[in-house]
Amino acid sequence: MKALVLAGGTGSRLRPITHTAAKQLVPVANKPVLFYGIESIVAAGITEIGVVVGGTAEQIRAALGDGSAFGARITYLPQEAPLGLAHAVLIARDWLGDEDFVMYLGDNFVVGGIADLVEEFRRERPDARILLTKVADPSMFGVAELDPDGAVMRLEEKPREPRSDLALVGIYLFTPTVHEAIAACTPSRRGELEITDAIQWLVDSGHSVGATIITGYWKDTGNVSDMLEVNRAVLETVEPAVAGWVDEASEIVGRVRIAPGARIVRSRIVGPAVIGADTVVSDSHIGAFTSVADGCRISGSEVEFSIVLQGSRIEDAGRIESSLIGRSVHVSGAVRAPRAHRLVLGDHSQVQIAS
Ligand code: G1P
Repeated sequence: MKALVLAGGTGSRLRPITHTAAKQLVPVANKPVLFYGIESIVAAGITEIGVVVGGTAEQIRAALGDGSAFGARITYLPQEAPLGLAHAVLIARDWLGDEDFVMYLGDNFVVGGIADLVEEFRRERPDARILLTKVADPSMFGVAELDPDGAVMRLEEKPREPRSDLALVGIYLFTPTVHEAIAACTPSRRGELEITDAIQWLVDSGHSVGATIITGYWKDTGNVSDMLEVNRAVLETVEPAVAGWVDEASEIVGRVRIAPGARIVRSRIVGPAVIGADTVVSDSHIGAFTSVADGCRISGSEVEFSIVLQGSRIEDAGRIESSLIGRSVHVSGAVRAPRAHRLVLGDHSQVQIAS
């Protein structure tokens, strides 16, 4: 069995971060979200991994390499444009050969891994198996309608009026029959070859399509609030460890991981939180559910329920919460009157100012 990991896409809902970085590489508890997916694939016993890449191919390659760091062998499969999930399978057709495979969307995050699902699929071997979960906002996803016995009847991509609250999780298990289904698909209204249409074709032509409803934790990390929420959930599981230097005037409370080379001076860090290597925190409060990446400087500020990426500086900035701060960003308090906000913001930035 092989795995096909989709790591293309433009990440429009995570702009401006995704103007310069692949959405799958935004870190959760200081580790790229994509790494959690690759690790769960390897943990399920699958080591042949094809990674479909688009405009951010260079970064994805630099992060994953040949896969040996994960105990896997990675083959990169370039997709010339984001033409849909089924299109990604189409371009991977030769690499997949006639093997069964799991398709994993690189911005999806599931707690508990996929080992049991893969095992069940190998045992029962339906033509396809999809994963579903109840969501509050089904129209943002692919939505499935099941019959009273739990068999898949109908799938619809981002329906305006959803027929159920069961969203398709971005993890799919397929036998090679799916290639026949994809060959029968035509582009959707949004001009993409949809995997939902291919699965619908399997249902309509009498193939077996199983559905597993997962009740554990799942998020599509395509937007900032889900990103912060996944970060919160993962931080609750980190092993506390203080490898950096903490002065006597500082206080570390609860589940906190401080990487080597980090320095905490006259500050309070309340877990769960992680502080990256060589980051310096002084005269500050890093609140719960916060990940600060490597090489940051935080002074005279409070940061809570946030993700701060590499090399950023936050100085005398007051209280920051529910924020995703990109790489090498500088946030500082305004020093002179009149009281005014001075902003240099990238395209598609979003700022909420407390006046
Ligand atoms: C894709 C699928 C959708 C699925 C979702 C899960 O949507 O098309 O059916 O529910 O992933 O993350 P996208 O994230 O590409 O909008």
